[in-house]
Amino acid sequence: MNPAPERTPEPEPTVAEPGSNAVPDSRLETSGPDASGAPTPGRAIVIVAAGSGQRLGAERPKAFVTLAGRSILEHCLDGVFGMHEAAQVIVVAPAALVPEAEEIAFRAAGAARDYVSVVSGGATRQESVRAGLGLLLDSVQTVLVHDAARALATSDHLERVAMLVEQTGGGVVPGLAVADTIKSVDADGTITGTVDRSALRAVQTPQGFPRAQILAAYAAGGDDHTDDAALCAAHGFSSIVVAGDPLAFKITTPWDLQRAERLLAERVAAAALASAGTAPALRSGLGIDVHAFDDDQPLWLAGLNWPGEPGLSGHSDGDAVAHAIVDAVLSAAGLGDIGGMFGTDDPRFDGAHGSVFLEAAVERVREAGYRIESVTAQIVGNRPRFSPRRAEAEELLTALVGAPVSLSATTTDGLGFTGRGEGIAAIATALLADIRAASAARPVV
Ligand code: CTP
Ligand code: MG
Repeated sequence: MNPAPERTPEPEPTVAEPGSNAVPDSRLETSGPDASGAPTPGRAIVIVAAGSGQRLGAERPKAFVTLAGRSILEHCLDGVFGMHEAAQVIVVAPAALVPEAEEIAFRAAGAARDYVSVVSGGATRQESVRAGLGLLLDSVQTVLVHDAARALATSDHLERVAMLVEQTGGGVVPGLAVADTIKSVDADGTITGTVDRSALRAVQTPQGFPRAQILAAYAAGGDDHTDDAALCAAHGFSSIVVAGDPLAFKITTPWDLQRAERLLAERVAAAALASAGTAPALRSGLGIDVHAFDDDQPLWLAGLNWPGEPGLSGHSDGDAVAHAIVDAVLSAAGLGDIGGMFGTDDPRFDGAHGSVFLEAAVERVREAGYRIESVTAQIVGNRPRFSPRRAEAEELLTALVGAPVSLSATTTDGLGFTGRGEGIAAIATALLADIRAASAARPVV
């Protein structure tokens, strides 16, 4: 739960008037049932698409750049209009492209266009969000703010954030565990320390807030922030981070655009197989890993750090679960095993976390034309007591693998090396869909 600080609910804070062409449409002044008796939306999503996309370096502002034959904004709107509960949709576009954004948004909305509007943005993301908030309908109680640049975010991802705002009554931000080891550096690049990444999350959008909180934060204004949770926090409204979705990554650089192109091509290929009545061939993989306890090492298991528990010995961090999963996905794709891919004595992997191997293996398997469908792993050992952190570990590994990971743990009734408490074993299976055939014959998008 995320209790909001005490605040006076009335009068509702107002947000400064947005850009010059932001005259609210008369359609947007309704509240309660509209003229046809249909209920007006209780949710709104502000899609900020007014950035220039400097880092992408394309000829057009980023949201209007072509991705697999359609603009980034159109792809983003696929997710928005796929939500079960209809929301008010406010697109914030560069001033010169408001007409083009309207055309795109109305086309994407189809019959749902009554609650769609487009407004011109500001010089910063925060100013663009402010412009969008100026058009909120009275009926809206839950506000999502979403980057158009996260073109592949799914409807489920958007809907989950909205639902959690309504359940908790506070701000909700999707985020992913940080897989890389993070260093702090001084001005000349010298490393000053290693940051504890277990407390870090790379946050995404949509970020969702109760209407009163986000309007109060924007009405108070202040310093420019790169996300809405930071502005809300600056005004005393805390947010929680919930599991994000790797597909909701932001297209920032040309490399991100290529990645989005590849993922969409995979999707089209899978759809082509499905419409031809051919399910992609499934392949299963198996991985087993064993490490002995080493009291002098910290314990890393299933991607998590376990303070106070004896660690596991090994060239890397000894995370038997992560390593077993790597072997399972590689074997399913016929790509060998972890030793063959990373070497067992390469100094670059000395002490490396399991997530490093896992991310690299997932990328390799995708490049080879497979989609990971699901992963299961079981820990065999006397300790640590796994169940209290099972959900946390599943969330982290699911984010790393990009497919559901389910985990369990068992003991061996005092038998064998695990029963004697000498070490831990982990067994994993992976299910992969072979989408190579469809990729080769993929239709033009
Ligand atoms: N955005 C916006 N108005 C701005 C700046 C950004 O609406 N003045 C939007 C972008 O369109 C994008 C989202 O905020 O959907 C996230 O910003 P970012 O990825 O930084 O996009 P750009 O600012 O366009 O890219 P860059 O920083 O590389 O110029
Ligand atoms: Mg920017």
